[in-house]
Amino acid sequence: MPPRILIAQDETDHGRITCDAFLDFIHQSSMRCSVVLPTGNTPLPFYAELRAHQGKIDFSFLQLDEYMGCAPHSETLFSKWIAREVLDPLHITDRFTFNSAADPSEEVARIRAHMSSFPTIDLVVLGIGQNGHIGLLEPGTDFNCAASLVEMAESTWDANCAYWGQDIPRSAVTLGFQELRKARQTFMLALGVSKAEALYRAFYGDVTPECPASYLQTMNNVTIIADRGALSLFPI
Ligand code: F6R
Repeated sequence: MPPRILIAQDETDHGRITCDAFLDFIHQSSMRCSVVLPTGNTPLPFYAELRAHQGKIDFSFLQLDEYMGCAPHSETLFSKWIAREVLDPLHITDRFTFNSAADPSEEVARIRAHMSSFPTIDLVVLGIGQNGHIGLLEPGTDFNCAASLVEMAESTWDANCAYWGQDIPRSAVTLGFQELRKARQTFMLALGVSKAEALYRAFYGDVTPECPASYLQTMNNVTIIADRGALSLFPI
């Protein structure tokens, strides 16, 4: 099934379109949905829109990725970031988050065990790195991997250091393809021409671990929500 493509005129429009698609999906279900959400710049307009729906939505949050080795209260933690941007303002209390300060192999085992209790994940929302990464699954990662301890690619680490204005750990835990494949619906969010090549490779290139996002070609129910810059190489 080819992906559905929603085209945004600008960042604000991207936030609005993503928020509408998200709410449509959540409201279609009579049960509380399980939802994986990304951090980063791309989803910021979406989260800004979503915050306006405080008190009107509920879902179970599943963390996508996290730095390993940070102090529990570090402001750079992805879990803190997503709490500030979305979960606290929306009063979402059902959260499965990763423990950055735990022993990495024990934490990976805990995440795998928890995620294996989900036959499906209702909605997985992803951003994309310029190198085609999703979550922190970097190029070269086996398509069969489950949640794992990973080393960030140099370019990913640089982008994260630039975001925080300081050094951050090089290692992280991320959900793997085994978990992401459980999605009943996947949203791929992309903004800006800097993502055009990665987005093109993801949907028109070979399905290869060299472009982790290309696994989406093997999935049903994928919605790409992007602006014209990110879609500039698409034949549309
Ligand atoms: C972060 C994550 C990453 C980002 C990607 C794009 O939780 O999963 O894969 O989605 O690096 O980041 P931005 O949106 O900052 O360009």
